Amino acid sequence: MEIIIQSTPEAASRLAARHIARQIREKPDSVLGLATGSTPRLLYQELIRLHREEGLNFSRVTTFNLDEYVGLPPEHPQSYHQYMHENFFRFVNIPISQIYLPDGMTEDVPEFCAAYEDRIQEAGGLDVQILGIGTDGHVGFNEPSSSLTSRTRIKTLTPQTLADNARFFEAEGEQPHHVITMGIGTIMEARRILLLAFGQQKAEAVAAAVEGPLTAMVPASILQMHSTAHVFLDEPAAGELTKADYYRWVLEQKPDWQL
Ligand code: GLP
Repeated sequence: MEIIIQSTPEAASRLAARHIARQIREKPDSVLGLATGSTPRLLYQELIRLHREEGLNFSRVTTFNLDEYVGLPPEHPQSYHQYMHENFFRFVNIPISQIYLPDGMTEDVPEFCAAYEDRIQEAGGLDVQILGIGTDGHVGFNEPSSSLTSRTRIKTLTPQTLADNARFFEAEGEQPHHVITMGIGTIMEARRILLLAFGQQKAEAVAAAVEGPLTAMVPASILQMHSTAHVFLDEPAAGELTKADYYRWVLEQKPDWQL
């Protein structure tokens, strides 16, 4: 695992965007796994800037989102469909036919989930998966105790995750308790993983994921088993890491081309 600590979320997001831009330039028909939440917003902004100002071309890129709320139609303001449209898709040139998100309104969840897995395989598998992290260490919506080999399926959110995300929902009772999420096994098959975490509220989960034992109780700790996982942090999110100075030192030694 490569731990990249930067002074600001902006700087960390710029470095993460560089990985994605390089990936797309080297393989224009790259398959990206995308995440939602407040964390990747700056990353999407930087990718949009690269598209506008440096001609980063998404026309052959295919995307698969990690998760979606069950019961929210795509046009619902809090659906992840809307989030992706508003924060990214409307500003870049990915053809709509190459954009995939879990369907929160599907009538047959197991069938949909199996088909979603098949679509990822047919597209050639995920080249890069972007991840945030929940305060309980979840990735996607794989809550603690999720099988570390799980595939796309329905999950029930923990009270902690519901509380963390309640601010996005105006009316009480509007927040779904169920989601469809790529599984941890699905995520782990991505050829490269970029996890971003910002703010002191993520520090404990980050330390558990990076330096703690590998355990289903901290789903992000499975990244310790991935050959090419990069963790982009700001200083507050790195605040609980015991080896932070070592990670900074490693980064300082790196040639620019490797960043
Ligand atoms: C949500 C999403 C995750 C996200 C996490 C953190 O529940 N399903 O993909 O990484 O919570 O969200 P945020 O970035 O807003 O802190």
